[in-house]
Order: sequence, then C-alpha cells, then structure tokens
Amino acid sequence: MLKPRGSTFPIRLVAFAATLFLFTIPSFAQQASDSVAPETASGTATKQLVLAHRHMVVAANPLAAEAGLEVLRDGGNAADALVAVQAMLGLVEPQSSGLGGGAFLVWYDAKEKRLTTFDGRETAPAEATPSLFLDANGKPLPFYDAVVGGRSVGTPGTVRLLEAVHGKYGSKDWKGLFGQAIDLAEKGFAVSPRLHGEIAEDMGRLDHQPAARAYFYDQDGKPLAVGATLKNPAYAETLRAIASGGADAFYTGRIASDIVAAVRAHPTNPGHLSLQDLATYKAKERPAVCAPYRGYEVCGMGPPSSGALTIGQILGMISGFEIGTLGPDDPESWRIIGDATRLAFADRDRYMADSDFVPMPKGLLDQNYLKSRATLLRRPTALGRDDVRPGDPPWEKAELRIDGFSYPEHGTSHFVIVDDAGNIASMTTTIESAFGSRQMVDGFLLNNELTDFTFAPVKDGHAVANRVEPGKRPRSSMAPTIVLKDGKPVIAIGSPGGSNIISYVAEALIAMIDWKMDVQQAVSLPHFVNRFGTYDLEAETKAADMARDLQALGYQTKVDDQNSGLHGIEITPAGIEGGADPRREGVALGD
Ligand code: GLY
Repeated sequence: MLKPRGSTFPIRLVAFAATLFLFTIPSFAQQASDSVAPETASGTATKQLVLAHRHMVVAANPLAAEAGLEVLRDGGNAADALVAVQAMLGLVEPQSSGLGGGAFLVWYDAKEKRLTTFDGRETAPAEATPSLFLDANGKPLPFYDAVVGGRSVGTPGTVRLLEAVHGKYGSKDWKGLFGQAIDLAEKGFAVSPRLHGEIAEDMGRLDHQPAARAYFYDQDGKPLAVGATLKNPAYAETLRAIASGGADAFYTGRIASDIVAAVRAHPTNPGHLSLQDLATYKAKERPAVCAPYRGYEVCGMGPPSSGALTIGQILGMISGFEIGTLGPDDPESWRIIGDATRLAFADRDRYMADSDFVPMPKGLLDQNYLKSRATLLRRPTALGRDDVRPGDPPWEKAELRIDGFSYPEHGTSHFVIVDDAGNIASMTTTIESAFGSRQMVDGFLLNNELTDFTFAPVKDGHAVANRVEPGKRPRSSMAPTIVLKDGKPVIAIGSPGGSNIISYVAEALIAMIDWKMDVQQAVSLPHFVNRFGTYDLEAETKAADMARDLQALGYQTKVDDQNSGLHGIEITPAGIEGGADPRREGVALGD
C-alpha cells in the first residue's frame, strides 16, 4: 500500500549509546539486531522497518517488547500482552510510566470488528479545589514547585485500566502475566543509557526525595551508571500482590495506605489523595473519536484527552490542500500544517477538557466547520498572532470559555501490539513528567498528572475549561491512534511528548497517508512543530535546514531536540510492519 522512500536520520547521542547498549544484552540481542541498524561511519543511524506475519509488539524498551512478545508466543492475545508490557515498562522505564500513573488505550476488537477505548486517566482527589496550584497570593505556582511532592498526585488509573481490559478481552490467567517483570525485578536489570541520562538530568529534584534517591543514585549520590544492575524487590512484591489480589490489592489495603501516606505526609508539598479516592477509582470505557481523512478514518481517544479531536481538526483543515503533491521538502506543506495546528490548538485551549465535567461543543470535528476554518489558511504567508483565535464550533449548549495554558512534559511512553487474531492495542501510558512527582512508593513512582490541569482556574472573569475540580480528569494530549480503511485497521501509532504528541502523531499520519512513507520512515521523519506561533524545528535535521524558508514565510523559529517516542505498526499486503522511533531505545519485535 505505502511505498518506502529512502531516509536517514542524524543520531542523537542517547540513541547512539542505546543502540550499542542493545547489542550488549544477550537476552534480546537477536531480536534487537533485526530491528536496529548499526551506525554508519558518518555518525548517522536508522532503525529498520520490521516485518512480521503473525503478531508484533513495538515498545519503548526492548525488555518490555520482549515481555509482550513472549506472551503472544505463548498463545496470549494483545489484552494479555499489554499487561506484561506495562508491568515491564514500570520496571525498566520507570521515568515514563507505571503503576502509579494513568493511560489511554485504543483497542481494535478483531472478532466484533469494532474499536473502543479505555480511559485510565488519573482523577483529582475529592479534596482538591480549583486553587490547588495557586500560591498564597492567588498566583500560579512555578511548575516544579507544583510537581515535586504530593500536591500533583492524581488517583492512579493504570492498574484499573489493565484489569478492565484484561477482564473483557484477555485470554490468559491474569496472575501469570506479571511473572517476567517479577523475575527481572528480583534478578536485576541493566540501567539503560536513556534511564541513566534522565536520572542525571533530574539531579536537584529526584535526588532530593529520599526513596527515589535511595533507588536511583549510588551511595555517594551519583546517578546509577549505564549498565549498573538495578534490583527492585519492592516492585516485585507489589506486582505479586496485584497478580494474586487483582487491582483491589493496589486500590485498597497496604499499597493504597502507603500511597496516601507518601502523598499526604510529604514534608514540604503535601497533597490531598485519600483512601476513598483510590477505593472508588474507575477506568472508563468510552467510544472512539474518529475523523475522516482522505478515505481513512483516524480514530483515537476523546476527552479527557484532546488528542483525537485536535489531530482530527488538523487533518480536517489540511484535507483541502495538495499536501501529497507538495511533499515534505516544500515549506508550503509546513505552512499549511503548522497554521492548521495553531488553529486547532486555539480551539483545544479554549474548549477541550474532561467532558464529564465541562460541556464541550459537539461540532469540533464538524467537517463544514473545519472547511470554514481552513479558509484562513488560503494565503501566501504565516497567520499573524492575532489571526489565530478559537473558532465558533457548533454547540448544543453555549458557555463562555477562556483559554487555558498547560506546561509541556517529558515523561510518557507509547506501545502497540497486534496479536494472531488481529486484535490491536494502541496504548499511551504516563506518569506525566519524567519521574512524575518524584515520590516512590512500594517500588514505583507516583504521577504528577494533576499539573496537566491549567493552574489558573479563571481568566478575565471566565472559567477555564481545564481548571481543577474534584474527581475531574486533567486534559491530556495523549493520542493513541488506530486508523481504519474500509472499516479495517491499517495503522496503529502514538507517542509521548506532552502537547507535542499531537504534532508528532499528525505528522506521522500525514507522512504515511500523503507522502507514502512506511511506518519506520514516518516515525523517523524530522519534526516540525508549531502549536503557538513559533516553529519548533528538530536540531540537526532537514527541519532545522528549513528555518530560513519558514522565517521568510513569517514564522519565528526555534531549533531544538525533539523528544518524541513514536511507535507504530502498519498492516500492509506484505504483513505487519513495525517502526520504532530512533530517538529512543524502542524496538519492534514480531514473528
Ligand atoms: N501527561 C501527558 C499528557 O497527558 O498529555
């Protein structure tokens, strides 16, 4: 279906080290060598497209992908494998996701030929108030003052989500799905270059929290070195409790008490989570949100995520333009995509939030509305700042709204699984920023997801849609996606990256659908991100080379590293094709 085109990607130091590191670990060297190409003399590297015929796992860490693959080889399905992948990610990539966080899953049910989604987003505690992130003078707290400690911790949702999905779709005994992570937590695993880098980068925060310091640093307070063996017996014990007692063992009893104590008794920044918040938490199954694009249906996670709606708006607005003919090397493509993204973000900031709490316009994906928004893009140069305003999508019930603002994040992980029956899991999982709230309890880190709420609840006398409210889920940008063609799944993809996720995923979809790239080329494509006016261009890539052209169109530009972790599969006549982001340590493994 989609023809590969040649592309290479200049390697980041971490990716270079990670690739070398992969070849030194015997347990997955064979599989990894199928999917990671050696560096060239010029210092560039690519990951290669991986082709499978029965099943596949693409995840951010080889050990996690291997855990999922083993479940699939053992006759398990995607709902079984995702439990094993998440349990392993919480051990080997603890900075990004885990038991103490939340997740969204888009699920393709091959038997029923239908999509559904599961919302395991964290909730604000019952005691939280809209002023949670304001100081004594009513001013928003500095971001990390809010993050580190107990204040930012929402009720974790991941464990209930795993149980709900496995309970509905799983085929293997729940208990057995934790064995690999339990064994490795006890035996110890080698600290990866990425984990080492994140630990080192977070000095000044992570090492000031006693439990995290004891786990991630050596006796002299130095970050654990690459390759150091890290054991986590507390995590093994927690997994054992969940394996035999189900999610209730996490949401009630000793583990719940330990979580609540860590949050409420934090010495400088206590939070509000209670035993009741944990005991009453529910993961919610919700319908997928789908948007048409050039004969495809692009489906993902609706509110409380802004992911599928914002991506659907971007694609809807650009669908009247010849992006395919222009191609990725023409600045005109990026003018249209970038300004469509800015317009979609204007709607996102004004209207999108947890729709269980806040009425939202029904017409955010209305094709006539998007067509009329797209007329703003019919011009030769960039939209001016004043031209980028929220639109007026059709409402059932009008409400005054004012724009909110959220901070970027650097945690989060995305994985995809396809099983023998054709079920597909596309799951984005997070503890929000790297290492979440930095509070470690019973072997896992607690999230700081509440800082995804807008800190100031009111602006110019109007309520901000994404303000803190008790029991509400903070607005997310996570965009686990499954694309259908003629009702059949053809692409599953997603990424970490805070609100950049929306651009990363939209860009990869455009690369596959308009530019006929394969999934590996699409996830490797240099990033061009324009959410709020400045064009963020990925350093040392063709994106950075285009800075002058984009400036000539009227954009401010900023060249920087881009922290995506796009993992995807495409189902083609050749088989199941997998691609892993070369910027991280992930791999695609399959049979
Ligand atoms: N904390 C990442 C997101 O939900 O967008």
